Amino acid sequence: MSIASAALAISLFFATQTFGAQYRFSASSRHIWNGDLSTWGARRRLEAVRHGISDPLPGTNSSCPQGCSEHGVCNEELGRCDCPRHYTGPDCRTVNPDLEEVCEEYGFSLRTCRETSPCFNSCNNRGKCVSGFCHCHPGFWGMDCSLSRGPDGGVELLAGQGYVPRREGPKIYVYELPPNCTSWFNIKRLDRPLHLLFWQRLMSAGLRTTRGEEADFFFIPINTRALNAASITEWVLPYIRRTWPWWSGDGGHRHLIIHTGDLGVQEYPLTMRRQLNDTFSNLTWLTHWGLHTYHPGPKWHPAHRPGKDIVIPVMITTAGFHLSPLNPSIEQKARKKGADLSRNGTFFFAGRICGDRKPPNPETGECSPRRLDYSAGVRQRVYYHHYNRTGFKVVPGTRTYLEDISSHKFCLAPTGGGHGKRQVLVSLMGCIPVTLTDGVHQPFEPELRWADFSVPVPERDIARLHEVLGAVTEEQVATMQSRLRCAAQHMFYSSSLGAIIGEDGRYDAFETIIEILRMRKQYPDLPPEQYMDVDERFRKFTNCELGGPEPDVLCAQGTERQHPDMPTCTECHRHVSQSRTGSSFFSWAGGMVCCSELEMARCSRVWQ
Ligand SMILES: *[C@@H]1O[C@H](CO)[C@@H](O)[C@H](O)[C@H]1NC(C)=O
Ligand SMILES: *[C@@H]1O[C@H](CO)[C@@H](O)[C@H](O)[C@H]1NC(C)=O
Ligand SMILES: *[C@@H]1O[C@H](CO)[C@@H](O)[C@H](O)[C@H]1NC(C)=O
Ligand SMILES: *[C@@H]1O[C@H](CO)[C@@H](O)[C@H](O)[C@H]1NC(C)=O
Ligand SMILES: *[C@@H]1O[C@H](CO)[C@@H](O)[C@H](O)[C@H]1NC(C)=O
Ligand SMILES: *[C@@H]1O[C@H](CO)[C@@H](O)[C@H](O)[C@H]1NC(C)=O
Repeated sequence: MSIASAALAISLFFATQTFGAQYRFSASSRHIWNGDLSTWGARRRLEAVRHGISDPLPGTNSSCPQGCSEHGVCNEELGRCDCPRHYTGPDCRTVNPDLEEVCEEYGFSLRTCRETSPCFNSCNNRGKCVSGFCHCHPGFWGMDCSLSRGPDGGVELLAGQGYVPRREGPKIYVYELPPNCTSWFNIKRLDRPLHLLFWQRLMSAGLRTTRGEEADFFFIPINTRALNAASITEWVLPYIRRTWPWWSGDGGHRHLIIHTGDLGVQEYPLTMRRQLNDTFSNLTWLTHWGLHTYHPGPKWHPAHRPGKDIVIPVMITTAGFHLSPLNPSIEQKARKKGADLSRNGTFFFAGRICGDRKPPNPETGECSPRRLDYSAGVRQRVYYHHYNRTGFKVVPGTRTYLEDISSHKFCLAPTGGGHGKRQVLVSLMGCIPVTLTDGVHQPFEPELRWADFSVPVPERDIARLHEVLGAVTEEQVATMQSRLRCAAQHMFYSSSLGAIIGEDGRYDAFETIIEILRMRKQYPDLPPEQYMDVDERFRKFTNCELGGPEPDVLCAQGTERQHPDMPTCTECHRHVSQSRTGSSFFSWAGGMVCCSELEMARCSRVWQ
């Protein structure tokens, strides 16, 4: 059963509760929100117009061929004239003769290729959104028109809008690539757009720098899931090395790429990996697939190098998670109603067990044929040994997914046909993850100590899983459960997507990546499993105990306000979205943490 339908299940589960009373967040919270959305939005719009559209041209001489800005955008730094899909040539004045091919390659039909489509960060109010392409006003350039020349000739970010870099960094440089590597894609059909959410947050969090010479890291914002991902990667890496001087500084070791594929870097064709081996090896990959040792069952080759690459959580976006028992407002209401919140079941898993969608044989518990390439056979073996055990619920599907996940202590968090998302999902639902696939690191492992809030089980112990879990004491369960409330925050991209368990976003997945990068910068040779021992701030961060000023709360998903003065994400959306280019995350400048702010440079900055 999918989580989407599970959301319905949990709504029914909690349907008897009333949602009247406000959940009190914190008396000392500071708020920028005055509750009056409409006036506020209008004022912002006016200011945006004043800063952007009527700005005088920073210089009358363009470094691009004359006429470029008629249909295209001049990247003044490089003198590169960037064209939308429909135009081509050195000055973007030739109608693209290969339009049909190009549209198809980027996920459109010829018809949908011309339709309106949202623009990245709504072009920061300094350009016109043309079918997903920011046609920036002359003098501005970049995927979202955020760049322009400063008085000293250097490149400025969000000039005139008050961009303030984060004091302690790390500073991250983002390559502005030609639009055929970034904005030409059909945003409505993008699979796993984490590289774009990350890019948005780098700006709204004050971490982006336009000065390569002061950068600690370099982000290459490419899509690794498209059909043409391999050819784009193959083109981009040499392009970066010959266009900017930053790679040669250190052989590309501090260059980051987010790869969201099931098998991470292993998804690139072998010939290409061989050919680019030196380049690929030097890059730092941020991937969901934490396999670091060859796995003989499914013949999986490692895709992750601990200490060099970083395993990052899958971005789950499914509606309904705000109904998690970890959400204080949901929990409080359930308690008021006298609902039973105890987790009296021991172990739960519902989902695909055999590689195909067929259920295992109910007599023998086996899949036919046995397939080791799916989940390394872990789901099949767990089912085979435990499907009829008291206190265990291991099923191919259930109509009561969220009730079950909320009423069992331990939940299986296996891999799928490569990386899995269950460890993220069950953590957010407060069920202790049982991580079970040999040689696989979980998100942010070993930087986070997974054994503190999960039960890692080696595959050889699958048959005696009930004994392993039986040996965990009540006290240990309680400790893990209390730690899970913090660990779950590291698993979710709250600042991009909105709050779901009452969190303020300070410890979300984005901030956790940044915190790990900060450690990399500060202690380049320290093994990541020792981060917590040597750095007090890192230890406090991982335990969600930074202290300091209470941040402004995030807008919350669902119908519940997290704080009376703060709108829900839906309310933000309703009131402000008409002034943006469409309603996708993509057009929401800076992510949900900026939901009430049209100018991303001004949105909430409470993580200094
Ligand atoms: C434009 O270029 C010309 C010749 O290259 C130069 O004389 C002039 O000062 C430039 N104008 C600006 C505003 O940079
Ligand atoms: C993208 O466009 C550039 C020109 O700006 C071109 O040289 C390059 O081959 C294109 N790359 C891909 C992957 O289409
Ligand atoms: C990779 O890094 C090494 C140093 O660690 C350097 O010698 C080599 O040139 C780099 N390769 C590339 C392609 O930059
Ligand atoms: C890349 O090079 C390393 C050694 O430098 C080697 O172990 C690895 O197998 C190579 N990968 C590919 C895909 O050729
Ligand atoms: C847990 O308790 C509920 C009643 O509160 C009961 O219906 C359910 O069967 C129990 N589950 C287990 C696994 O004992
Ligand atoms: C499941 O276990 C019960 C006893 O706990 C047993 O009576 C029943 O036959 C078992 N079912 C299967 C399919 O093994």
